[in-house]
Amino acid sequence: MKRTLLTLFALLVLLPAAADEGMWLPSLISARIDDMRAKGFRLSAEDIYSINRASMKDAVVLFDGGCTGELVSAEGLLLTNHHCGYDAIQRHSTVEHDYLTHGFWARSRAEELPNKGLNVRFLVRMEEVTDRIAAGENPEEIIARAKAEGTGYRADIEQMYYGNQQFLFVYEQFNDVRLVAAPPSSIGKFGGDTDNWIWPRHTGDFSIFRIYASKDNKPADYSPDNVPYRPKKHFTISTKGFQEGDFTMIYGFPGNTQEYILSDAAAYIAERSDPAKIAIRDGRLEIISRAQESDPALRIHYAAKHASIANAWKKWQGEVLGLNRMKTVAAKQEQEEAFARENPRGAELLREMKAEYKRIIDPYFAREITVETLRVLPTSYTAKERAEAFFPARRETERALFRWLFGEYARRCPAEYRIPAFLDGVAANGSPEAFAERVFEEVWAGGETPLNDSLRSDTKRMLDHITWLLGTTRLRNLTSKRLNELYREYLHELRQTWPERAFYPDANLTLRVAYGAIAGYEYADGEYHKPQTTLDGIIAKDNPEIYDYDIPQSLRDLYASKEYGRWGVEIDGRRTVPVCFLASNHTTGGNSGSPVLNADGELIGINFDRTWRSTMSDIAFDPTICRNIAVDIRYVLFVVDRIGGAGYLLKEMRIK
Ligand code: ARG
Ligand code: ASP
Repeated sequence: MKRTLLTLFALLVLLPAAADEGMWLPSLISARIDDMRAKGFRLSAEDIYSINRASMKDAVVLFDGGCTGELVSAEGLLLTNHHCGYDAIQRHSTVEHDYLTHGFWARSRAEELPNKGLNVRFLVRMEEVTDRIAAGENPEEIIARAKAEGTGYRADIEQMYYGNQQFLFVYEQFNDVRLVAAPPSSIGKFGGDTDNWIWPRHTGDFSIFRIYASKDNKPADYSPDNVPYRPKKHFTISTKGFQEGDFTMIYGFPGNTQEYILSDAAAYIAERSDPAKIAIRDGRLEIISRAQESDPALRIHYAAKHASIANAWKKWQGEVLGLNRMKTVAAKQEQEEAFARENPRGAELLREMKAEYKRIIDPYFAREITVETLRVLPTSYTAKERAEAFFPARRETERALFRWLFGEYARRCPAEYRIPAFLDGVAANGSPEAFAERVFEEVWAGGETPLNDSLRSDTKRMLDHITWLLGTTRLRNLTSKRLNELYREYLHELRQTWPERAFYPDANLTLRVAYGAIAGYEYADGEYHKPQTTLDGIIAKDNPEIYDYDIPQSLRDLYASKEYGRWGVEIDGRRTVPVCFLASNHTTGGNSGSPVLNADGELIGINFDRTWRSTMSDIAFDPTICRNIAVDIRYVLFVVDRIGGAGYLLKEMRIK
């Protein structure tokens, strides 16, 4: 009885795919469609993915190789996040035309700005090729043939379930993607790093681009002769609003999850890797923040760096808390024990996997530490960066970073994997900090850097050695060539032993469907967080003294006059504008910019974040607490119309 209970518990709680969990392959969505429809979806599997007619997949793109975007007009207009378009917006910004600060609104097609190197990809089709490869077909040839099918075609074979299944993905890539509009950062990045990963949220995290194509609507490199791309499909926008509990679906390109890892790997993340990386970044952020507070020029100078360090730093903290709260390590151990009892081959596999983890965990950790410390330091500074008149305190800030990171490397890197040139340097100079000073002076001075060069080449040698130990260059997660093979069989056995569970493949930057509902959540005992924020909340946070909360005057004026036009709604008896919302869709990095769709497949928002307490969902999903954050499409349209004065863009869109 006890055993059965435990097994049941393991099945219900520990294996993926309870309500709202899962990132499903679009071509296999028919297996989920009954569940989706039971939860309120009103369309068919063919509406989501079809190779015979236009379907939703034809309106979704991989944006810039790491985000998602969606088509919203018959003339190639595309929505994504402000933080996804950030590089493009920044590259067009100068002191005279500071689009990052003030926003950008192209007044005509001629004013839309081309972006070298920026591309988008549509999925033409996906197809399982496991059997063909097993029968001896060469994967390289399959890929080459697919690429030859059309102009601008790209193709890849991706592993699902650690290689139990292989899928060919064929993409059509467009390289002429122009910037159409971006709100000022005080809207697009409202709340900055303070509000990042946090609910309640009030960020207008969107930007607008347009895809251009040749006259025959095919991919083409930038040319003034190119014309707006005519997509097979674009989304209708719904401004009707929604209620808590309403069906939502997210269609996008999630980057990386590891839902099936053993307790050993979960323990490594929660107890060793994340805490070490957080502590290393604590020190970096402290040094950078102190500099930023001391000097407004340094605040701007380090802004992008601070944002990127703080993003993962904050995510890892949420992840550790979440894994501890869910007792993921213990839960996974119980699941492993239950599985080993039911499946003798599984028991053997688990033993081998655990032995392999023991072998690789130290070198892998050494690699992570090296990458987080020595590898983030600059190898040179430009003359402008070194000009003391420019940033008087910069030199001391950089010196402090060298000292901190050398010290952290010395304290944390497992002894066996320390870099010889580093040990020599420490011995010769007396301490890691003293060695750091020597190297820093050399790098800062410019020109020849013999100490730094030998440190760097030795570092590279050590990292290559670790890669060799692991037997693979795919090092995003704690893994090795052998572990990957073992996981392949482990997943196979898991699916045999517990066939009633719906397994979904880990995210790997291929197109996926997630579905759930508009949902608030219990943030703390007795403290419920509603799923919708409004303009009133922006006004409450507004503070001209604090950079991240200083909204445009035009937004204050609109609030005062209440001239919201068609974007105003009645919420709890007051007239306001909806801003962000929460839903229970399973998402991860890469889902930024993804369309959030209602039961009729209409666009109601743009996904851009998760709550802090959700971030362990890359490893273990908790349906009671995991929430994605989207910007409400009505706020996007309100900003375009009333702040940007770009109402003409709305004429292209199908707005209901
Ligand atoms: N947390 C969001 C995601 O991981 C990034 C939001 C960007 N904004 C920021 N303030 N850093 O990428
Ligand atoms: N902000 C993330 C992104 O940029 C999304 C997430 O991690 O939820 O893709």
